[in-house]
Amino acid sequence: MMAKARHMGSAISASIMCANPLSMGADLDRLAHPSVAWFHCDVMDGHFVPNLMLSVETVKAVKSAYTKPLDIHLMVERPESMLAWFPFGPGDRVSVHYESTAHMHRVLSMVRERGALPALALNPATPLECVREVAADIDMLLLMTVNPGYAGQPLVPGALDKITRARAMLDGMGYAHIPIEVDGNCSLQNIPLMEAAGANIFVAGTSSVFSASAGIEQGLANTLARLKHTG
Ligand code: DX5
Ligand code: ZN
Repeated sequence: MMAKARHMGSAISASIMCANPLSMGADLDRLAHPSVAWFHCDVMDGHFVPNLMLSVETVKAVKSAYTKPLDIHLMVERPESMLAWFPFGPGDRVSVHYESTAHMHRVLSMVRERGALPALALNPATPLECVREVAADIDMLLLMTVNPGYAGQPLVPGALDKITRARAMLDGMGYAHIPIEVDGNCSLQNIPLMEAAGANIFVAGTSSVFSASAGIEQGLANTLARLKHTG
């Protein structure tokens, strides 16, 4: 196989579960800016993770109101049974957790059959070795850098080292073009360290875009200023 070019640019995926639920539309209007590459939609079922988040209706409303591509992150058990509920298509991405299904290849194919980009997501304690089995079938690797379920958690120990090891593994296998997304405590302090370790896409939540007391516009500007490889 001819190795494809490395994915170089860094991008922001804004975590919409961190928006104010009472003024979500106003918050999303501020994030519908060209510097935000994706709307990251965290879907939680109360079983795979101890929280309930972003209903199907919310994701549908966002999809119909904005042209921004969706970055749907399914933290649900048996995602194959729920994929049909969600609105996604060409240009959107859907991340599925290795720990959530016995049939990862089947779920990734179901995403690709709808024209969207399938991605593999891994919890912090899940060994990277499983990436080898599906690398040919994914368009992105999502590494959780906190245990999924809640915003506002600190980085798990070893998160930066895992990013470094994942980048080396993908590059070594001839998949240098597959970007790594990091999700959890992508703070203004951590983003440069994550980027230096090899991360490309940063889920921006309460510790960056939504952290500025001056508001989302300032939070977005602060976050962009931390990225080295934009554009
Ligand atoms: C974890 C969540 C969080 C959130 C990002 O399951 O996915 O990563 O969106 O927010 P902070 O920046 O607070 O981690
Ligand atoms: Zn997420």
